Amino acid sequence: MRIVDLINKKKHGERLTKEEIEFVINGYTSGDLPDYQVSALLMAIYFKGMDTQEIADLTHAMVHSGDVVDLSQIQGIKVDKHSTGGVGDKISLIVIPLVASVGVPVAKMSGRGLGHTGGTIDKLEAIEGFKVELSNETFINNVNTYKMAIVGQTGNLTPADKKLYALRDVTGTIDSIPLIASSIMSKKIAAGTDAIVLDVKVGSGAFMKSLDDARELAKTMVNIGNALNRKTVAVITNMDQPLGHEVGNANEIKEAIEVLRGHGAEDETQVALTIASYMAVLGGAFKETTEAKAHFEKVIASGEAIELLKKFIEIQGGNPQVVDHPEKLPTAKYHLDIKSDMEGYIAGFDAEKVGIAAMMLGAGRRRKEDVIDFAAGITVAKKMGDHVNLGDVLCVLHSNSPDVLEVEKVVRTAFMFSSNQPEPTQYIYEIIE
Ligand code: URA
Repeated sequence: MRIVDLINKKKHGERLTKEEIEFVINGYTSGDLPDYQVSALLMAIYFKGMDTQEIADLTHAMVHSGDVVDLSQIQGIKVDKHSTGGVGDKISLIVIPLVASVGVPVAKMSGRGLGHTGGTIDKLEAIEGFKVELSNETFINNVNTYKMAIVGQTGNLTPADKKLYALRDVTGTIDSIPLIASSIMSKKIAAGTDAIVLDVKVGSGAFMKSLDDARELAKTMVNIGNALNRKTVAVITNMDQPLGHEVGNANEIKEAIEVLRGHGAEDETQVALTIASYMAVLGGAFKETTEAKAHFEKVIASGEAIELLKKFIEIQGGNPQVVDHPEKLPTAKYHLDIKSDMEGYIAGFDAEKVGIAAMMLGAGRRRKEDVIDFAAGITVAKKMGDHVNLGDVLCVLHSNSPDVLEVEKVVRTAFMFSSNQPEPTQYIYEIIE
């Protein structure tokens, strides 16, 4: 087989067979195929696309390019969730104890953040002692005993995706739906889970800016799940403004605690309850998501959810006292109010700018090797539909440096004003099953 023939085939819009796709993935992972030929093939895929079978074959080949985690010793239907990335997205922290409360095993593998979106692993590391590197044995034992565990992505998982992603990043081929869908799903499937709930975010703070694109990505990932025998549901959710009020690491933990106490922001709470409900249904605990949601509301109101969060932190080696004493979490030296110089309703957001501003304060990484400042972040005081008077606080910057002039400039441009009150925001757009 010669890759130049496969490039020509795809260039003319023909489909690639399973064997041809495996030839490319194995050859690229081993180093036999050079970057320039694989780049040409990626560009042909970018323009000509792939059909459902090709995308499933590509995902399968990427899954088997490295280790596949064996979670067969965990009893029950193991569920995981994945978010395509947003600003202030702390949903994983909320759903883990909720789903565990109904006996569905949550075997969560998570990544670190890069760019304007944060990673769950980074947020949890804001808790003193919290370990995200667990041996396979501890991970499996914790899921069997407590129905919940989280581990950072380690080992030789989907090496093909690592190489391809790096190549796509520098060849203008990131924003191809077959390539994004196979990249995300290969990592989830290699992590050994049986069922996956995908939170596909759409809007100004998300990877997908239009509902049509988000829907296509969601459908493509659900089709991959079906083809590779993983129960998969995608929930398309709004990322036109930061989720909840907190963006950062320690402050996002504080907000997740508030949601589990029943005092969370409405958008955050509704999205978390929906994702948790689909996880519980896929895990076999409920037939209907409405039943699951009603149950989770009771788990929150009774205080069980907050006790389970403490247990989760404790079994991962963290200090559970942070739940009752959030002041024990890292706190920044400076808290700077950004006051409005305009009047009107908040009618829109450039949510990505809020993410970028948080990153500039130290809450995120520009490059992989950057070190996170857990205390840094932003509290968004005014959200879509809120009325703002001159001098009202739009947001608060939490910083360990008093010099936030550049950050202030960026964050101010994130707020869009109108003299008319906008329509109420929809939190959840669609469910793709
Ligand atoms: N996230 C991934 O893991 N892969 C992509 O291609 C895009 C976003």
